[in-house]
Amino acid sequence: MSQHFQFQLTATDGLARRGEITMPRGNVRTPAFMPVGTAGTVKAMYLDQVRDLGSDIILGNVYHLMLRPGAERVARLGGLHEFARWPHPILTDSGGFQVMSLAALRKLDEKGVKFRSHLDGSEHALTPERSIEIQGLLDSDIQMQLDECIRLPAERAEIERAMEMSLRWAERCAVAFGDQPGKAMFGIVQGGDLIDLRIRSAERLAAMDLKGYAVGGLAVGEPQAVMLATLDETLPVLPTKKPRYLMGVGTPQDILRSVARGIDMFDCVMPTRSGRHGLAFTRFGKVNLKNARHAEDSRPLDETSDCPASRDYSRAYLHHLVRANEALASMLLTWNNLAYYQSLMAGIRAAIEGGQFEAFAAQTEEDWARGDI
Ligand code: GUN
Repeated sequence: MSQHFQFQLTATDGLARRGEITMPRGNVRTPAFMPVGTAGTVKAMYLDQVRDLGSDIILGNVYHLMLRPGAERVARLGGLHEFARWPHPILTDSGGFQVMSLAALRKLDEKGVKFRSHLDGSEHALTPERSIEIQGLLDSDIQMQLDECIRLPAERAEIERAMEMSLRWAERCAVAFGDQPGKAMFGIVQGGDLIDLRIRSAERLAAMDLKGYAVGGLAVGEPQAVMLATLDETLPVLPTKKPRYLMGVGTPQDILRSVARGIDMFDCVMPTRSGRHGLAFTRFGKVNLKNARHAEDSRPLDETSDCPASRDYSRAYLHHLVRANEALASMLLTWNNLAYYQSLMAGIRAAIEGGQFEAFAAQTEEDWARGDI
């Protein structure tokens, strides 16, 4: 641990990087997967379990927490770590992305974004300064700039306008964040699927000398090949000595292929949300437990796993729980899925350390392709 936010690369293998973020609330081993704890809870999980699976950091959302229970209330209750009983690092997303996907009657201009809550229709506003203020009230360790993410496909003029405004918002957020040695504020590269705009965005953010950089606006409807090509062109422009975070990504394969290109951090609702919808991730690909073929299958999801949810319960029982819409179905499948994601990240980190990343990635992809027997 360290009183200062620091990032150190401890090994590289090709473009894949193994690193360590150190900060006052603890260390983050990278490449890292951050479970999504939108409303101060990783849905269907105890945070002790989330920790035991090897999560060094979780993600929280400005948008949800400002609406309910309110950032000032969380601050009065001692901050998000104390409130949720997670004493380890937390990264918070700045709100703009969730406003665009969840809120009604949005109005966005240079000042910020006004919107109505999806919960009760009440009116709210977010500016770059207010987003950073809220992230401070939550006492978030890694804070994200407010940005505008454009859904693809989109016109060049629209992508460019949003990217340029996001750069101006990055500067305003950096000023609002100021000098906080134990914490970090990350900028977010935008620019859609247009490589020249991505490069301009990355260059201008790099010049701001922020503590870390995210790549946003990906996995928003474009093919995986477009996302990977964007990373190929964008990452070389970002400073090698700062952490790189690919926002909202992704499938296990997206993660593996993005690590191969130099990404250090990920977050995604996929393991948690899919778990609540009856889908299990395993070493041999996805298993849809709703399917009748599991009704009398006494095998566990993965008998070699350390996770009780993966190892100790039959697929027949999980199928029954899913069909009966039982709370335990969500709990066990989320547990299995986060266990799988974190074991994948641990495997990735060990492979990079051992100089075996390419072989590890090939074997992992082969196992997924072989499928569940
Ligand atoms: N989550 C997934 N993509 C994005 C993005 O482009 N911006 C922000 N702020 N959050 C995201």
